[in-house]
Amino acid sequence: MAIYRIGHCERLSGETHVHAAKNAVLPLLCAGLMTREPVTIERVPMLTDVETLVEILSECGVSVSRNRDEVTLWSDDPHSPSSENLLSRMRASVLVMGPLLARTGYARVALPGGCAIGQRPIDLHIKGMQAMGAEAQLTPGSVTLQGKLHGGNVYLDFPSVGATENIILAAVLAKGATRIENAAKEPEIVDLCTFLTEMGAKITGGGTGTIFIEGQEKLHGCTYRPIPDRIEAGTLLCAAAMTEGSVLLRGVRPDHMRAVLFKLMETGVTLRESAAGLRLSGRARDPIQVRTLAYPGFPTDMQALMMALALKLRGTSVFLETIFENRFMHAREMVRLGASIRIEDRIALVSGGLPLAGTTVTSPDLRGGAALILAGLAAEGETVLNDPAGHVMRGYENLPGMLRELGARVTLEEGEDISAHG
Ligand code: UD1
Repeated sequence: MAIYRIGHCERLSGETHVHAAKNAVLPLLCAGLMTREPVTIERVPMLTDVETLVEILSECGVSVSRNRDEVTLWSDDPHSPSSENLLSRMRASVLVMGPLLARTGYARVALPGGCAIGQRPIDLHIKGMQAMGAEAQLTPGSVTLQGKLHGGNVYLDFPSVGATENIILAAVLAKGATRIENAAKEPEIVDLCTFLTEMGAKITGGGTGTIFIEGQEKLHGCTYRPIPDRIEAGTLLCAAAMTEGSVLLRGVRPDHMRAVLFKLMETGVTLRESAAGLRLSGRARDPIQVRTLAYPGFPTDMQALMMALALKLRGTSVFLETIFENRFMHAREMVRLGASIRIEDRIALVSGGLPLAGTTVTSPDLRGGAALILAGLAAEGETVLNDPAGHVMRGYENLPGMLRELGARVTLEEGEDISAHG
């Protein structure tokens, strides 16, 4: 059980360096299933999601060696994982499906878990594999796919990030050419395409709605440094904006964060990009309207964090969540701190500017938990965040430490924070 204690914070200031992106690193690690040659990923963040995926990959016959934050993977004889328990702990584990199927002609995976933010089916992943010649058999709780993959034309009904990644991972080793229409355009997709190209894959169109892949017989090893985490960066910017802070973030890619940066500026803060990094300063005042969308729209992963900021904005902010159907669970906990939030289906109306008072709240999911830490900074007195499932550590390497670096009083008690040992 992780317990966070958050003190009221008047003003964050200083600078910090963002980690590599969780959502970029997870698919990259799965490439360890795709070649006998060593693949080294640099700057791998210390996250429980990374730990879980590495465990799953080891179960799939991948050899893993570590040198500080570098992880090297290779596999002579990969196979499907036997434990369903591990797979049900994180949704990204479904990304072993494409590489396993392409390399061995067989993949059996449990239906994945992760944050309970919606139904999160994997029908689009399966449809993609079927378009490349796989036969799928669904049993309650798991799916088995088999067949020698060939190129295919795939149209995604929705530009799913995970389905686009899984299909790319399979198609690079399939015989012939694959075209993915209505593909996801997230920076993490572009990063995966760049990385696979370094492994010898032939991919064009990454970052656009149409991705074209020419399958190769095999891929080779490489060493790769993933992109910075735009959600971690956005989290810290929201924290700075909430506290009228002046914070410099180093190692960020502002071009990956335009929708979030525009929303922040609409609140009245100033953002300055320079060679040193991205600086936020000034006062966040004006309410905002946020509609979550696929990239380059406003990311659903930032919705809860922006809602924490909206608690401080004078007037009513409006949030429309279009990606996941159950992603306002943090709102209920924010109300416990004194916030006024009305939810109508997929719309949340936040009346900001009310006084907040620290109390005990519970982390509902990964981003919701982080948003409650931010809300705690704005509340008078002490806020205690109980995170029995360890959601926050799944996706943030030492968030309390990063906030402390900027002057906040946030501590993690009990439970094991693996990032603290790094
Ligand atoms: C990824 C991110 C997650 C982010 C999400 C949306 C990782 C590890 N996780 O999750 O942080 O919140 O993108 O930006 O990168 N869908 C289907 N069928 C499918 C697949 C998805 O209907 O087969 C639906 C989902 O239910 C959801 C929407 O598509 O409503 C978006 O999901 P998707 O883009 O696939 O998200 P993930 O890849 O799971």
